[in-house]
Amino acid sequence: MERVRIGVIGTGNIAPLNVAGYLEHPLCDVVAVCDTRKEKAQAAADEWGATKVYTNIEDLLADDEIDAVEICTPTMLHSEHVLAALTAGKHVSCQKPLANTVADGRAMVAAAKAAGLVLRVAECNVFSPLLVKAKELVQSGVIGAPTMFRIKTVVGKTDTEFQENLDPSGYVWRFNHNSPGGHLFDDMVHKYTTALWMFDQDIKSVQAIVRKAPAFFEAPTAAIWEYERDSLLGMMEVTYAPNMYMRSSFYGADEFFEIQGTDGFIWVTRGTGEMLDLAPVIVYHSDGTQTHYSNLDPNWLKGFSAGSKHFVDALLEGRDSADMTGELAIKTLQLCFAVYQASNERRPIDPRDIEGSVSPPWWPPDLSNYYEDMKRYGQ
Ligand SMILES: NC(=O)c1ccc[n+]([C@@H]2O[C@H](COP(=O)([O-])OP(=O)(O)OC[C@H]3O[C@@H](n4cnc5c(N)ncnc54)[C@H](O)[C@@H]3O)[C@@H](O)[C@H]2O)c1
Repeated sequence: MERVRIGVIGTGNIAPLNVAGYLEHPLCDVVAVCDTRKEKAQAAADEWGATKVYTNIEDLLADDEIDAVEICTPTMLHSEHVLAALTAGKHVSCQKPLANTVADGRAMVAAAKAAGLVLRVAECNVFSPLLVKAKELVQSGVIGAPTMFRIKTVVGKTDTEFQENLDPSGYVWRFNHNSPGGHLFDDMVHKYTTALWMFDQDIKSVQAIVRKAPAFFEAPTAAIWEYERDSLLGMMEVTYAPNMYMRSSFYGADEFFEIQGTDGFIWVTRGTGEMLDLAPVIVYHSDGTQTHYSNLDPNWLKGFSAGSKHFVDALLEGRDSADMTGELAIKTLQLCFAVYQASNERRPIDPRDIEGSVSPPWWPPDLSNYYEDMKRYGQ
């Protein structure tokens, strides 16, 4: 393949962030878009220079001038859309989460293998320059043997143009029976992937406490997990702080990562947001000195554009897989559901045993209690 011709399916809230990397790539053309909402599809096509506009996925998939598709439709449609695209002979990049159940994810991965096509899950964290640097540092041995991975996520309020312009319809399917869970499913999959990808180690046991918060939030949440190597553990907290202003260019949320090792530690001091005036990656060395990587680009968008470029390069080079693989996406789903199950059953859960899906007991949420829920959070 000398150029990659992409069709984008679903032109909602997140599509422009993924498409940026395709538009920047000198050997990629965004040739077609498809959305059931014609005006959305047309506006996206005009902006991205795509000449073909479809409102029906079958019509886009029948187009021989498309080599690969970027699937940005709501998560509950991923399985149907990915299988249809693979059947039509297209390489696929699909937004996270891969599917609503582990079994659906497995069927998608098997279909891609059988067809000899690339199935890549678009996960911005595995291309974040900050997290990529942290992984390189771990692998270099600079902090010795990693012993603990700590991930903090906080959601607050912000006043960004990005958040102001989000189409509220993109939140309806996240809050109802079309999703197996709320924020821990929709957003925390990024962190679960990061936990698995950072060390190339399986997670064999998870314990968690998940509390209900307003709308689709599930906070405060605390989870701990055991990697295959006994001397390495992970932990994660998720908090909701609706009255706390957060500096950001995107969502009102941020993440912090700390990897402790036998000889030192690594901090990644931001994710989605820009809360702290610190270098984005800091290493504390065994002799007490520190390295501040102030040169890294902390813009959250970089993880999206680097991921899209990587997908195009994988196709140009004829590689049979691209990061992140479907297999990692399946482990991510298992870890996500293990957190819910561990909290539901108050016992440690082996994520590798989960083949379906697990929801919190209050799911789908009763939004008529929204105002009472907000009062509990001091609003
Ligand atoms: N950081 C990230 O990587 C990130 C962030 C947000 C969303 N996402 C993921 O991206 C996906 C889309 O999320 P979103 O926020 O853009 O949702 P959205 O609802 O805003 O956009 C989905 C779009 O798909 C269109 N659509 C629905 N059914 C369709 C069909 N049958 N054929 C063609 N188009 C159809 C809708 O009209 C809508 O424009 C989800 O899987 C979500 O989890 C990823």
